[in-house]
Amino acid sequence: MKHADLIRQLTLEEKCGLLSGRDVWTTRPVPRLEVPSAFLSDGPTGLRKQMGEGDHLGLNASEPATCWPTAAAVANSWDPALGEAVGAALGEEALAQKVNMVLGPGLNIKRSPLCGRNFEYFSEDPYLAGKMAAGYIRGIQSKGVSACPKHFAANSQELRRMANDSVVDERTLREIYLTNFEIAVREGRPGAIMSSYNQINEVYTNEDPHLLRDILRDEWGFDGVVVTDWGGSNDHVEGVRAGSTLEMPGTAGDSDRQLAAAVRAGVIDEALVDERVDEILEFALRTDAARKAAGEVKLDVEAHHALSGKAAEQSAVLLKNDGNLLPLAAGARVAVIGDFADTPRYQGAGSSNVNPTKLESARQVLNQFPLEVVGYAAGFERADKPNEELLRAAVELAKKADVVLLYLGLPEISESEGVDRTHMRIPANQVRVLEEVAAVNPRVAVLLAGGSAVEAPWLIHCQALLYGGLGGQAGASALLRIVTGQAEPSGRLSETWPLALEDNPSAAYWPSPCRTSEYREGLYVGYRYYETVEKPVRFVFGYGLSYTEFAYSDLKVSAGAVTFTLTNTGKRRGAEVAQLYVGLPGSQAGRPVRELKGFAKVWLEPGESKTVTIPLDDKAFRYFDTTAGGWRVESGEYRLEIGANCHDIRLAGTLAVEGSGTPAIPPEPYRTGRVAQVSDADFTALLGRELPPARWDESAPLQMNDAIGQMYYAKSALARFAWRVLTKKKQKSEESGVPDLNIQFIYNMPFRGIGKMMNGMVTMEMAEGILVMVNGHFCKGVGQVWRGWRNAAKAAKAEKKAAQG
Ligand code: BGC
Repeated sequence: MKHADLIRQLTLEEKCGLLSGRDVWTTRPVPRLEVPSAFLSDGPTGLRKQMGEGDHLGLNASEPATCWPTAAAVANSWDPALGEAVGAALGEEALAQKVNMVLGPGLNIKRSPLCGRNFEYFSEDPYLAGKMAAGYIRGIQSKGVSACPKHFAANSQELRRMANDSVVDERTLREIYLTNFEIAVREGRPGAIMSSYNQINEVYTNEDPHLLRDILRDEWGFDGVVVTDWGGSNDHVEGVRAGSTLEMPGTAGDSDRQLAAAVRAGVIDEALVDERVDEILEFALRTDAARKAAGEVKLDVEAHHALSGKAAEQSAVLLKNDGNLLPLAAGARVAVIGDFADTPRYQGAGSSNVNPTKLESARQVLNQFPLEVVGYAAGFERADKPNEELLRAAVELAKKADVVLLYLGLPEISESEGVDRTHMRIPANQVRVLEEVAAVNPRVAVLLAGGSAVEAPWLIHCQALLYGGLGGQAGASALLRIVTGQAEPSGRLSETWPLALEDNPSAAYWPSPCRTSEYREGLYVGYRYYETVEKPVRFVFGYGLSYTEFAYSDLKVSAGAVTFTLTNTGKRRGAEVAQLYVGLPGSQAGRPVRELKGFAKVWLEPGESKTVTIPLDDKAFRYFDTTAGGWRVESGEYRLEIGANCHDIRLAGTLAVEGSGTPAIPPEPYRTGRVAQVSDADFTALLGRELPPARWDESAPLQMNDAIGQMYYAKSALARFAWRVLTKKKQKSEESGVPDLNIQFIYNMPFRGIGKMMNGMVTMEMAEGILVMVNGHFCKGVGQVWRGWRNAAKAAKAEKKAAQG
């Protein structure tokens, strides 16, 4: 242990106090031993340091900070070095605002295009997500601040997010939902990691020794702080035992007392508490020293705004460009249409929400570009309501221009923490404007804002489509640089855009409204599925156009790397993202036809060639052998492909690889990829155990881990009435177009959350009393709540007395 001396001097109460927060954002100090308090702050889209009332949903104000393009956008750059640059700037802002830990990046796998937090995550592919996350982590930590990748792990839906059990087979877990974290941890070496709200295979991630100890600490060598997601601690004692360090937010001593009592009762060994205390001390002392060494850091607003714009520029994806409509020639007469040109969508809602230092809109910055703007028309209302007047004005304006720049996007309601999307469409009123405008002026370039894939049956109506994601505070000028040819489009999609939602492999299983969420599609997530079963999609994974062309030649395959030549055959500078895919035809273990195992973003001048080498690392051939409980390589003739995306393979070679052992043969859907409708029998066989009950038992009393949204079958009439009121409010806010995050949160929160989320105002004993009331025993419950309150008051008084010596 690094801080054994210090730990010897701490009382048991002080040790336990260090393992849960002081309040919503800070850890406890121990002034007599000069142990400082540390400040934790969201998040990867920019800092959200709250000085006033703290909340974990982005509701109350925070200090101004640079708003970066969200992770989903930056992933489209396929450039971990760019992620590192953004991370370093974020780390600098953390120093300036005296923050010790940045709660990000978020790198969960986009299992479905509908997850409400997809805009905060990098990709459907673990390799790309891991590499991007490692870049951010290296950047943040280069300033001495700790990063905190999240949410570990298999947390891919918002519905019932705190009370959901991800039922997933070990191989899929390892290859898809943990490989991203493995890369982030091994290559980024984060000082912290955030456990997720959900369970995996019936165990809360925060108290899962297999996940936190065997895999994270022992296998990957992580030696930092495991932080619970806010309110995600189910049983603090079990968390500490399993390897979780810090419970957040604080519970005003309730959890500390439980932990100290468990040590005294011999339920948990004090040596385990010491291990965790060592981790938190190391974090607080190290980051505090870095902050002091850095002195007063002043935020360079302009430089960071410019970097945010650079990131947006390198992340934008040109998805269509018929007849080379873009780039526009200098002096082109443009009509600017679409409400998003005036009120940009540049970030998502929830805990990642940033109070930006500045904010560009396209309308404001257009005059900095060599375009002749013939006018602006909003075209549509943000809420999906028809407005003939706005539509007509847009059509009239379109007639006057050479080209229409049409700003469309997903409205705010679509992308928020705590709420999943229900469909993949952009609002019908926006599509109508596109159709009508294109009818009078077909030279339409759509500039699309949004943090996740959309269905695009409307694509035929535009000549060009430039996708900017949620591009941060400087995204507007970034897109216009591409439109005018001052910058080159170089982004590639980090997720597939299916033709329709139903095509997604998880469509039949996601989101689960039940207690369990069954990952029946197994390994076949995103392009792994579409490519294997040859299902056509709108835009494939890795897709994106340039203003120039590239040629691939001279593939050489060796045991350690693939090498080839990339040439810019066009007339403009540009970047290609060359992607390495690996497959094993006839694999006995069953695997997707191709999987991403490496990539390189290469900038080339016109006519220039470069030799590109992509190493074959330890992930290139491995699969997780569930029977052996470890990584193995299957012997065979592997196919190594270099593609401009996952479908457009430009070069292919083979490599004979000598593996070990013979893999077990999985059930049929997992060999062919036909996973859209997996039977109970096949999924049970894959899991290797009986399926846990998907539904809760409505005849049984509600439990601490049942969600408040389940109160419709509570025994207490009062609780059922409360449920009706809550449900009405929830429906009303959903209909209004602006989801009420608080209500969504409460609805999906389990009863234990009442004890974990109210800063100690309600202790766990009191929360249990409330549940007794909900279950129809009003007087007994009131008694328990009262006893809980009295016990907490007594304990607080005793602690105060002890502190006064
Ligand atoms: C989110 C985390 C976030 C935390 C603190 C939680 O609700 O899931 O991503 O870091 O709040 O705001």
